[in-house]
Amino acid sequence: MNATVCGDDMKRNLGILKEELNNASIKRISKPLLVWYDRNKRVLPWREKVTPYGVWISEIMLQQTRVEAVKPYYERFMHALPDISALSRVDEEELLKLWEGLGYYNRARNLKKAAQRIMELYGGEMPAEYDALLALPGIGSYTGGAIASIAFGLGKPAVDGNVLRVLSRLRADVRNVSDEKVRRAVEAELEDSMPKDRPGDFNQALMEIGACVCMPNGAPHCEACPLAFECKAHANGSELAYPVKEAKKARTKEDKTVLLIRDAGRVALTKRPSKGLLAGMYEFPCLAGHVSAKEVAKYLSEHGLKVLRILPMGDAKHVFTHKEWHMIGYEVRVDELANAIADEETGKWIYVDPKETREKYPIPSAYEAYAAKLSMIRGKKRFLEEE
Ligand code: ADE
Repeated sequence: MNATVCGDDMKRNLGILKEELNNASIKRISKPLLVWYDRNKRVLPWREKVTPYGVWISEIMLQQTRVEAVKPYYERFMHALPDISALSRVDEEELLKLWEGLGYYNRARNLKKAAQRIMELYGGEMPAEYDALLALPGIGSYTGGAIASIAFGLGKPAVDGNVLRVLSRLRADVRNVSDEKVRRAVEAELEDSMPKDRPGDFNQALMEIGACVCMPNGAPHCEACPLAFECKAHANGSELAYPVKEAKKARTKEDKTVLLIRDAGRVALTKRPSKGLLAGMYEFPCLAGHVSAKEVAKYLSEHGLKVLRILPMGDAKHVFTHKEWHMIGYEVRVDELANAIADEETGKWIYVDPKETREKYPIPSAYEAYAAKLSMIRGKKRFLEEE
């Protein structure tokens, strides 16, 4: 026998053996996991009456925000847009207003685009095939798998960060979970081994274990984990060494000066460009860098405004996934906003009644510290957001 062929065969066989071992542990946890889920699953609004639309909306919201924080957003969204037809017709600003504070605003825009596609192609009914789901805007393998399994009972996995962490610890898996190829391999392993009679519950149970037991920061609650009997990381006491991730790139830092410019009744806002970070949202005019009050006054008078008063508002920081804004702010009282001359740096201004921002002008939570000055707080907790 040719020695190279023999070596290749051995490697292939070892690979298959390893894969089988990996999949065997998934098969062994299925039953205890489902028993645990039946006893411990949280009561959540999208679980009360399971519909494909409800699963879709909740899963998109849950990709960026914790379950507890999503609940009020979900209820408000479903009340305002109770079905795919209503979502397909919603005005963009109303949509962004419903999404305001959740971040990742393109996800909301994609919901509307997908709803329009579903109206055109499927008469307003969510398609019940995995590949048709994946062809819709904003639906990737995670969301597609969640809808397919939870709403339609199809044996498809839904692999998010929680699931990757649980399986990585379970199998003391040294593969880098930030690698897209690894995520796809884990999907294939799950698809092969998950119980086909309760795929939606299995997926949700893994997510639930990840969120409530096998947590990301600090020590996981292994004493309460129904998978501890099979967990290799637990056996080695090395839970915190998993999942293996590649080092994160440092975020870029951007200094900016936020100007809350008001006359007797109105405040100046600008609209962000339709592409890129926080696309299409409204914001206060900003200057690049940290600019002194004197320089701000000079800048504004050069742009046609008579400054009556200028007060520092303190600093604020907002962290996006790849960027940080380090802001200082000034509250500026001017005599008449209508005289302002726009320029390239701060864009075209509109003048609005501060009360109107609550209904009409979605302002990203990055500006919350300054928006609060105008009693624009919308009484919600804000989260990391990014486009
Ligand atoms: N996280 C994301 N989707 C979830 C779900 N359906 N159940 C529990 N946690 C989740």
